[in-house]
Amino acid sequence: MRSLFSPLHWLVWRDRKRRAENLLRFAEVEADGGRDLVRAAEVTGDPVLRRLFLKHALDEQRHADLFRGRGEALIRALPSGSSGIQANWMAPGERGLDDLQVEAEGDEALLAFLHLSEKAAAKDFTNYVAVLGDDPPTRDVFKKVLHDETFHMTYTRAQLQRVAPQRAGRRVWVARLRRFWKAYLRLAAALAGLVGGVVLTLQYFLILPVFALAARRAAKAEPPGFSSVAPERNGPLTGQY
Ligand SMILES: [Fe+2]
Ligand SMILES: [Fe+2]
Repeated sequence: MRSLFSPLHWLVWRDRKRRAENLLRFAEVEADGGRDLVRAAEVTGDPVLRRLFLKHALDEQRHADLFRGRGEALIRALPSGSSGIQANWMAPGERGLDDLQVEAEGDEALLAFLHLSEKAAAKDFTNYVAVLGDDPPTRDVFKKVLHDETFHMTYTRAQLQRVAPQRAGRRVWVARLRRFWKAYLRLAAALAGLVGGVVLTLQYFLILPVFALAARRAAKAEPPGFSSVAPERNGPLTGQY
């Protein structure tokens, strides 16, 4: 089924330079997620989770290599001097652990968070596969990655059910609320940056010219020379002082 946002995804991936930039950015996020999962494997006391986290970490590292390889190939094929705009917020990709403090979270919270993150990535990558028909090598990269993300989404939910059968649903809801909160903070920060830029631009074009005009008028009102007031003499000029 085609997503409601298909035209938007098509727009985001249409430009080859932007496509390459997105892939390189995805590579960084995947590699970052892989490092966090190695850390998660170190801190968990559950041997089954340790093995799964390590496999997961290897998958994310492979995704990073796939995205980087394809991104670099696209950049090499670009005509020199081509330009494009950044539109990162429109192609989020996988968010990894999203600055989650792996050491501070227990296995349950980590699994719930990972499950939602992988689910979102699987959904995004399905949409990207659908709009990349004109670029089979990039589409194939997403297909390969999507296969793994679907496994990650499934195993994290199954393991959450195993380690916390009574609390699994609640854990997922808490993780969902935390994701919403982080998304809100990201949006608020982006809006603050945008509003700050608009205010500074308005100041530059509206307020600064008023001050410049006032300064010009004040300068015109001043008679030429250093000062119109003659210095008072303390006494006759009979001595040096
Ligand atoms: Fe991944
Ligand atoms: Fe993943």
